[in-house]
Amino acid sequence: MQKKVKIAVLVSGGGTNLQALIDAQSSGILVSGEIVCVISSKAGAYALERAKKAGIDAVTVSRKDCRDLAEFEAGIIAALEEHKAEIIILAGFMSILSEDFTRRYANRIINVHPALIPSFCGKGYYGLKVHEEALKKGVKVSGATVHLVNEICDGGEILAQKAVEVKDSDTPETLQRRIMEQAEWKLLPEAAEKLCRRILNEKKPETPSFTLRKWELSDAKALAESIGKIDRKYLSERMPDPYTEKDAEWFITEMAQKGEAENTGVFCGIVVDGKAVGNISVEKLSGLRSNVGVIGYYLIPEFYGRGIMTAAAKMICAEAFEKLDISRIEGTVFEPNIGSRRVLEKAGFELEGVLKNSFCKNGKLYNECIYGLVKGD
Ligand code: GAR
Repeated sequence: MQKKVKIAVLVSGGGTNLQALIDAQSSGILVSGEIVCVISSKAGAYALERAKKAGIDAVTVSRKDCRDLAEFEAGIIAALEEHKAEIIILAGFMSILSEDFTRRYANRIINVHPALIPSFCGKGYYGLKVHEEALKKGVKVSGATVHLVNEICDGGEILAQKAVEVKDSDTPETLQRRIMEQAEWKLLPEAAEKLCRRILNEKKPETPSFTLRKWELSDAKALAESIGKIDRKYLSERMPDPYTEKDAEWFITEMAQKGEAENTGVFCGIVVDGKAVGNISVEKLSGLRSNVGVIGYYLIPEFYGRGIMTAAAKMICAEAFEKLDISRIEGTVFEPNIGSRRVLEKAGFELEGVLKNSFCKNGKLYNECIYGLVKGD
């Protein structure tokens, strides 16, 4: 399971937007992040009660008890650091943050504003005041905006907006309520989820550097050892069990080296830090289907999930199309092997069919799926 992004919610009042975020956590809308603390700029704000009820740490950093903005922000930063918060959500937070603060958390702060920015926004436009001004102007639609926070008040990149009808009979209070219900409480959790997911994706480990290298006899030991680390269910039935160094030597001389020399296949070791940790090959079929190559691969499990296999598959297919006289490469996947299926799909293969000879092993049904990659022009 991937870790969740730690969220701090900054509030000043009733906290209905905070409640929407808490509810989104329980209903499964906000899954990539978790609220780790609520910071209120006002002592006694009802938002603090909501946090406590949900079992979330709640702190007050009172704006009016601080000498200046710097002291106020230092208090907030201390609470954020204590909770190791990674993103900040302003949910009815009524103070303007300094440039120093917004720079420190660049692209990591979002705010919900109760109007369609650039209307009725900026300094002085907060809470009910926004709706009073909208009604004074006589607008027929208003709404809410979720945006990234930068040094310009309500001026950061807009992430989401939703329009809400203004009725002739509206008071600032009724309009505020409708905008909250129809826009804010929905937009804010969705935007929070999007930002958290984006951060989780950025955190994914990069594909480590690897090379594909033709097999040499000196690789036999590493090859045998690596095959010993693969779950047998992912290996062909024909694979000797246990797979010894002698088997590896046979594979290297009889299959890999001959295949390369006679142009009937391309066989490579997947090498990380000078050591073979997997194998990838495309073998050409003979007879009627001699225009088809078959891809085969494995990697030791500690390198799974980092994109090595996909990158290696793309490389070997390009080499096979160039060297072997083939127009199509086929891959076989036994259906529950999701990882292997993803490798082929990400390398550009398409599912061509499920073979009838599905089989049952240890009470599990395996469907043999054929994927195909056609040579480009
Ligand atoms: C919300 O309407 C929010 O959009 C607005 O204050 C209200 C707080 O309600 N925020 C601003 O005006 C910020 N400029 P809540 O405390 O119930 O979430």
